[in-house]
Amino acid sequence: MSHSVALIVTGSIAAFKAPVVARLLGKAGVTVVPVLTRAAREFVGATTFAGLTGERAHTDMFDPSVAGELHVELAARCSLVVVAPATADFLARLASGRADDLAAALCLSARGPVLAAPAMHPRMWSHPATQRNVATLGRDGRVELVGPVEGEVASGESGVGRMAEPEVIVAAVLRALEESERRDLANRHIVVSAGPSVEDIDPVRFVGNRSTGKMGFAVAARAAARGARVTLVSGPVELATPPGVDRVDTRGALAMDAALRTAMGPDLAGADALVMTAAVGDYRPKVSSSVKIKRSHEPLTLELIPNPDVLAGLGADRKTKRPVLVGFAVETPEDDEALVREARRKLEAKRVDMVVANRASDSFGRDDNRAILVERATAEPTGWLSKSALADRILDRVLTLLKDADVSG
Ligand code: CTP
Repeated sequence: MSHSVALIVTGSIAAFKAPVVARLLGKAGVTVVPVLTRAAREFVGATTFAGLTGERAHTDMFDPSVAGELHVELAARCSLVVVAPATADFLARLASGRADDLAAALCLSARGPVLAAPAMHPRMWSHPATQRNVATLGRDGRVELVGPVEGEVASGESGVGRMAEPEVIVAAVLRALEESERRDLANRHIVVSAGPSVEDIDPVRFVGNRSTGKMGFAVAARAAARGARVTLVSGPVELATPPGVDRVDTRGALAMDAALRTAMGPDLAGADALVMTAAVGDYRPKVSSSVKIKRSHEPLTLELIPNPDVLAGLGADRKTKRPVLVGFAVETPEDDEALVREARRKLEAKRVDMVVANRASDSFGRDDNRAILVERATAEPTGWLSKSALADRILDRVLTLLKDADVSG
């Protein structure tokens, strides 16, 4: 499929490399639609980009030659937006959702991925304000950064802030385009659980755990991007709902169980797969007080009672090979062998098809993870991967298991 990509150029000295990005994308068969901010035009000319791309270089939001809204039209036309270079100011504007020029409005209305290649002085990159904006963009999950890298910057100083090389940016664009075309989970309903369970002791206190929800949100995001209908049942987390995902928020294990069963329907037949990444607490307070428990000078004993094993309950109720059931096991094992052994024990006990086994220290709160995909007969270590790439690996296996289920009915 031939793609059109919007190339937004913002006002950094690294803008002199943007024509190379345009040229390399063109050579790869991608139509490049250039968009220059006002500051970018202090560094490079619209004519250069028009000449290189055969497209008009857009500079103004209000263009008398366009009947509709230009940013909406460009968003409809382009499968991806790449910002190269992206200044500190542009990242700040993206993080706060501004739409006061064509470039910012286009990023906000983009229907596909937005890739940004930051370029700035290392002190600007490491400034808490920039890092806060980068963290916000990461949490929102709509803008992916390529770089910056360490090296010499315009002032002659060195540090992290230099724009990734055009070849690296173009490779990231081509990879994202390829991913956006993958629709191998179309017509499947994938249910994902994520985050911690939180069991209330009283209106202000709870028993919880350190799960951040990142893994489950990555699975939901990738499944939706690959065409699945996705229901995400999540405990309390600080993450934005990925595009195209239906989200149900829960707190305790019982509520999560109920929400999962509603999402999967009678006989669990309404789902093709469940990926159970949630860290469901094994216990909850026997009594949850409706009023705040006041301090006393006596010791306080909190009585905990066991929660149901949600996944094992679903495993026991499943009558056919569908839905495919995937569990997670976070352990603190002595070695890989012990990790696989424990994961396989859980796989059998909970009657599921796969257990993604990992170490607590490799997983909680991180953006990457390293796991072993444990099935009945196989155990496949993934090595270090971003949670998004690990999500894809898990979904690849889910798809294979689903195809088996399709054949055997
Ligand atoms: N799980 C669940 N309900 C529970 C506990 C766990 O559904 N009450 C699910 C988790 O979502 C995960 C899998 O079971 O997919 C394994 O969770 P884990 O906590 O590792 O297993 P446990 O059976 O609780 O064993 P332990 O805590 O003793 O290691």
